[in-house]
Amino acid sequence: MTITPDDARALDRDDPLKDARRHFDLPDGLIYLDGNSLGPPPVQAKAAIQRCVETEWATDLIASWNSADWMGLPLRTGARIARLIGVSENSVIAADSVSVNIFKLAAGLLNAGLKGVAVERGDFPTDGYVLEGLSRLSGTPFAYVEPGAGAAGLPDGVQVLVKSAVHFRSAALADIEAEERAAKTRGAAIVWDLSHAAGLVDLKLAARGAKYAVGCGYKFLNGGPGAPAFVYCDPDLADGFSQPLSGWMGHARPFDFADGYDPAPGVARFGAGTPAILSMTALHGALEAYEGVDMAAAEAKARALGDLFLKAVDGLGFGLACPGPGEARAGHVSLTHEDGYAIVQAMIARGVIGDFRSPDILRFGFSPLYLSYEEVLRAAGILREIMDAESWRDPRFAARKAVT
Ligand SMILES: Cc1ncc(COP(=O)(O)O)c(C=O)c1O
Repeated sequence: MTITPDDARALDRDDPLKDARRHFDLPDGLIYLDGNSLGPPPVQAKAAIQRCVETEWATDLIASWNSADWMGLPLRTGARIARLIGVSENSVIAADSVSVNIFKLAAGLLNAGLKGVAVERGDFPTDGYVLEGLSRLSGTPFAYVEPGAGAAGLPDGVQVLVKSAVHFRSAALADIEAEERAAKTRGAAIVWDLSHAAGLVDLKLAARGAKYAVGCGYKFLNGGPGAPAFVYCDPDLADGFSQPLSGWMGHARPFDFADGYDPAPGVARFGAGTPAILSMTALHGALEAYEGVDMAAAEAKARALGDLFLKAVDGLGFGLACPGPGEARAGHVSLTHEDGYAIVQAMIARGVIGDFRSPDILRFGFSPLYLSYEEVLRAAGILREIMDAESWRDPRFAARKAVT
């Protein structure tokens, strides 16, 4: 059945999240379907950085560590993220990058006596790269688990699995509860990578038994390029957790300047060095766009937008590298085509921003906060025109840039 612009407008009228669009002022005419590697700036992020630069940094200077509570910013930012991922307010800290935070958690689990580290083959590469490095450093074995095998696929003697809650290529959703059960029976632990899930999926991490997680600030959370990542640690386990990047910002009393490390209580011990206040201020401000947003509604809308797009591009000759319409899928869709790179470039030239993931994936993200059904239908129409006219064959679309 063909979806008409009238159908799409009717869906927009009934959209419970339609008001969230007011937090964004995207360039006119642009349809931002980035997949999602960089969320756009909410107005609150821009205002927060301006205030931070002009008042806190330029005027109040060093006093701002106290007067603007820069010291508390990592935990205050974590508290805003906590609601979105379904954990208690005091169990998340914003800090460092996903890669660094994976190291802290996985190495800490080795400190607690677990042996061996693993990722699924084909999961986001940095997760495996970091574990390979940890394996070289510690001597613990490193293993790949087959794609989708999860904790049940861990080889004997390997007890730490890093796994994406949403796969960066396929948008497949992991069954967190079932994975945690499988891990428990093997005496293993899972570090969840929420990079493509936080701010999009109704994760309910605590209710589903997740104990450890990391996630990204610059994707669906819209924290800005290179925004700090975050760490979640079950509050019942955090006080006993020994993470090895034991820098002064994870110390109980950093301004005692004492010899000897004494970890701060709870998740605060996952701090390491001085937080990047400008970036974290942007992330903290950006998270205001989520105020009042029901995560179940956000997840449902993202999937409905993706379903609409998939139905509207059906028959254009693309392969599918994600679950199809009506199936469990997170916030992006992945089509395949051997000339995918050029097709994405041709779309960008027409004002539709998607991204390309090697070797042949066209990835389109559907943020529930700022996209309308009408825009998504329009984007699908542009893709149809590009395919019908074969305008992607223009040689200017073939030249590869460094970031795809
Ligand atoms: C699933 C996943 N994990 C990790 C990363 C990289 O995280 P970082 O650059 O913060 O280390 C990304 C980036 O796209 C990602 O998609």
